[in-house]
Amino acid sequence: MTTRILMGATAIALALSGGLAQAQDLPPLEQKDSYRVGFAQTESNNPWRIAQTKSFQDTAAQCGWELLLTDAGGSAAKQVADVDSMIAQQIDVLFLPPREESPLIPAVMRAKAAGIPTFLVDRSVDPNVAQAGRDYVSFLGSDFIDQGSRAANWLIENFEGDQGVIIQLEGTTGSSPANDRKKGFDDTIAGDDRFTIVASRSGDFARDQGRQVMETLLQAHPEVNVVYAHNDEMAIGAIQALEAAGRTPGEDVTVVSIDGTRDALQAIIDGKMGVTVESSPFFGPLACETMKRYAAGEAIEPWIKVEDRIFTSENAAEHIDEAY
Ligand code: AHR
Repeated sequence: MTTRILMGATAIALALSGGLAQAQDLPPLEQKDSYRVGFAQTESNNPWRIAQTKSFQDTAAQCGWELLLTDAGGSAAKQVADVDSMIAQQIDVLFLPPREESPLIPAVMRAKAAGIPTFLVDRSVDPNVAQAGRDYVSFLGSDFIDQGSRAANWLIENFEGDQGVIIQLEGTTGSSPANDRKKGFDDTIAGDDRFTIVASRSGDFARDQGRQVMETLLQAHPEVNVVYAHNDEMAIGAIQALEAAGRTPGEDVTVVSIDGTRDALQAIIDGKMGVTVESSPFFGPLACETMKRYAAGEAIEPWIKVEDRIFTSENAAEHIDEAY
């Protein structure tokens, strides 16, 4: 994972207004050898989430964390309860990937009120309601709009047909990656009039739901020749549905996706998937470094941006051994 510190217009505005984290209304963090750290995971039903949790577990010993780990099992309400329980257990720091943009905001506010610095990791919340540098310290994560746009640009450059009929499999409704990956893709693909999105529906970032939604949409749109999935698990589910329906992904259907899982890289090597734009789950080391900088009194940028690679038939074999 590589990172870049964002100092765009928003960051500069926050800096000028005293919004760089460590502002007086954010809870401070004492410098000490060990910390009680909460990591409230959204669910554990896909390799990306499992790799993200493992990254926090692997980082714990070297960063002096006593890690309190929860799994919300795909429920935003459970994730809120998990954060409340961590607050009651007096954690020093909270790392949170909010399952959806709005429901977790009250929990973020309660952590702040309890004096617990919070870092959002991988997913964000509605910026009109809660803001980095004011309500939580910082957002550590990818540019999901850019990921969707890069998937669309790959398609524009590599699709060989005259007309692209697209089915889009969206991630969890109300989540920042689903909202932003849709926006990035839709806005970019609109610039090429060969393409039409005939259906766009949620598969909740899950393989089996992706397969089921694809089965249903295939019946309504048998002319589909492109699938854009918001993550690899749904793309793999879609490939299964296409094959069950007698289609040949990679030949009569182009599949584009996001994440960079091992199964997706294998599907690219097997010729069934065209591209996956990386979205790294390995947040542990970045979380440790950022927390220590904050404890040392450094001003923290509102968005610490993770740089993502892109995997195609040209480099999938080279990277599959490091995939998860
Ligand atoms: O928030 C990142 C997304 O969440 C990943 O793309 C997906 O696989 C995960 O569930």
